Amino acid sequence: MSTIRPTASVQPLLRPADLGGLRLPNRVVMAPVTRARATNPGLVPTELHAAYYGERAGAGLIVTEGTWVSERAIGFVDVPGVYSEEQVAGWRRVTEVVHALGGRIVLQLWHTGAASHPDHLRGEVPAGPSAVDPREKSFTREGFKDTVTPREMTAADIARTVAEYGAAAANARRAGFDGVEVHAVGPYLIPQFLNPRLNRRTDAYGAGAAGRRRLLCEIVDAVAAPWNGRCVGVRLSPYWDTGDRFVADERTLAEYDALVTELGARPVAYLHLRGRDLAAPGGTPDFGAFARYRRLFGGPLIVNLGFGRESGNAVVEAGIADAVSFATHFIANPDLVTRFAMGRALAAGDPATYYTGGAAGYVDQPVSGTGSPSAGRG
Ligand SMILES: Cc1cc2nc3c(=O)[nH]c(=O)nc-3n(C[C@H](O)[C@H](O)[C@H](O)COP(=O)(O)O)c2cc1C
Repeated sequence: MSTIRPTASVQPLLRPADLGGLRLPNRVVMAPVTRARATNPGLVPTELHAAYYGERAGAGLIVTEGTWVSERAIGFVDVPGVYSEEQVAGWRRVTEVVHALGGRIVLQLWHTGAASHPDHLRGEVPAGPSAVDPREKSFTREGFKDTVTPREMTAADIARTVAEYGAAAANARRAGFDGVEVHAVGPYLIPQFLNPRLNRRTDAYGAGAAGRRRLLCEIVDAVAAPWNGRCVGVRLSPYWDTGDRFVADERTLAEYDALVTELGARPVAYLHLRGRDLAAPGGTPDFGAFARYRRLFGGPLIVNLGFGRESGNAVVEAGIADAVSFATHFIANPDLVTRFAMGRALAAGDPATYYTGGAAGYVDQPVSGTGSPSAGRG
């Protein structure tokens, strides 16, 4: 007699999914989180990275921390890259461990553009869409520093950057990843180009919303090429709002609508959306903010920001998302899927260890046991 329970009684988050060719046994995705553990001169992922990601192999899909596509992309200390052979070898060890443990893992490709700092670039001024200071902070060896007025990228700079993304995607494939994700969230290079306050260009990469989206579209095409047009996700944050340089007003949202529609016609395996900030800490994510993109994008959608077990199940059940990604919960709960499945309580992480380097707060987070209290946080 079969003891397998009917699918309908399984939590929506625990049902399998197909994300544009990526087959997931569950819909609990590990969101990308920068942890600054590549504390070596070559910015190479180490055994510590293999252990950290291996411990989280139960995720339906792991999206790695943002990873530099080239030396020019660097804008944060001790973040790994994927542009050297040593880095490819380090990542190969990570993917081998994750796969041996039954997981799937895609590499997030990152470039900070004007949000970098000369400290990361051997004293050179960072390059961005236009010579406009994004007024951000860059995490340097001496702590957070104010960004500076960048140099406007030339057409040759842009062509080289697109090529670097393509090369990084090819390296990711050689390193054994299951795909790549284009990091286009927050205040970094791609959102800088999308933003009319920072992109004042009058050439084909500015001058109107279609021009401002061109860099991302070219990057998607370049990154998809070594993957034969499959397995490339894009992560966007249309609601990113600093109230100054980045403003999530109706004009911004209309431009993102057009961008998402255009991405739907390109080789994009999934869209990974960072939602609106929660109205209050511990509040419920605004499902309507994601539903907007469900209507515009025909492919799979991963949603993120402020989800827990209850809200994650609800957003999948409502048909708004195919999968949900969790950042802070996965940092503190390597066995997050088990905890969701068993209704176990979630541990709270220690933000003081997010970027400190070393094992503490990174690979020493305990897994739950049968003695753990049940109920769990929503
Ligand atoms: C320590 C830390 C590092 C992060 N690094 C990245 C990153 O490298 N790439 C990225 O797209 N988002 C990054 N994020 C944003 C998270 O992926 C996520 O959007 C955010 O934490 C909200 O999700 P949550 O409510 O599940 O924590 C980071 C967040 C945290 C807390």
